[in-house]
Amino acid sequence: MSLAIITGASSGIGAEFALQLKERYGVDELWLIARRRDRMEELGRSLGVRCKIIVADLTEKSGIEAVREALVQEKPQVDYLINCAGFGNFGSFDQISEAEVEGMIDLNVKATVLITHMTVPYMKRGARIVTMGSGSCFTPLPYFNIYSSGKVFVLHYTKSLNFELKKYGIRATCFCPGWVETEFLGKATSQSNVTRPPLSAMKPLLNCKKVVRGCLRRVKRGRTMYVTGWYTKLQHLLFKILPDKLLTYAWLGMLKGPEDNGN
Ligand SMILES: NC(=O)c1ccc[n+]([C@@H]2O[C@H](COP(=O)([O-])OP(=O)(O)OC[C@H]3O[C@@H](n4cnc5c(N)ncnc54)[C@H](OP(=O)(O)O)[C@@H]3O)[C@@H](O)[C@H]2O)c1
Repeated sequence: MSLAIITGASSGIGAEFALQLKERYGVDELWLIARRRDRMEELGRSLGVRCKIIVADLTEKSGIEAVREALVQEKPQVDYLINCAGFGNFGSFDQISEAEVEGMIDLNVKATVLITHMTVPYMKRGARIVTMGSGSCFTPLPYFNIYSSGKVFVLHYTKSLNFELKKYGIRATCFCPGWVETEFLGKATSQSNVTRPPLSAMKPLLNCKKVVRGCLRRVKRGRTMYVTGWYTKLQHLLFKILPDKLLTYAWLGMLKGPEDNGN
């Protein structure tokens, strides 16, 4: 028996992790967590393994508690925890609402930490944790500030957690892809009244299947971080040798103001 818990399992990277964990890594029980029940049920049916669907808004305390309750009740042995729930909205400090700020911090940062902490006691030697960083971890990104700063937190958190978990034989990997073809970008660029890059500047998009396959190989090896996408790898390298201001200026050069966000 092998069990994986996946947040953000109703679409994109999370759903792809579910598929590949079952197909390539022999996982035979999945806990799928997100808000859209229908999507998770459909995924569960297509996978043909035992799936526990937890419908939870992880920005809410009740959503986090629903996951804790399931753990306490079932006392599972967890082999993989994949923290994929997340979203990112563009906009300057005065274009972005307080609700958006809270939502991104609560989901991308707080839920990742809380769900990881409550799951570790149900893990044994060899278990693996994935957290979602991003290519935005490496450079200060004005107008994507809350999202990218949250991902910096997740990266540092994962690296430190790895040291703490070493004695238990559990490894955590922070997955840092560039732009991946999922629903994420459509949601992130749905607002035209904010400063953001045009969709054309986010290409070529990475293939979800390919990046998840690459990530799982690194997860198996116990890598602390997995950066993928040539642009993101280059950015990661340049960040180590150039002042971050230069990369931030390159990012600013790509942005469009609210008045010319027609796409
Ligand atoms: N796509 C990219 O370019 C990219 C690049 C780097 C990092 N990432 C990161 O990768 C992760 C997955 O993103 P994705 O690209 O797969 O995007 P996605 O297709 O939009 O998936 C996001 C997932 O998060 C869930 N979610 C959103 N709000 C939630 C909430 N309040 N409570 C519980 N679940 C919630 C969504 O499910 P429901 O709507 O059903 O709740 C969905 O399953 C995110 O952390 C993102 O920051 C994405």
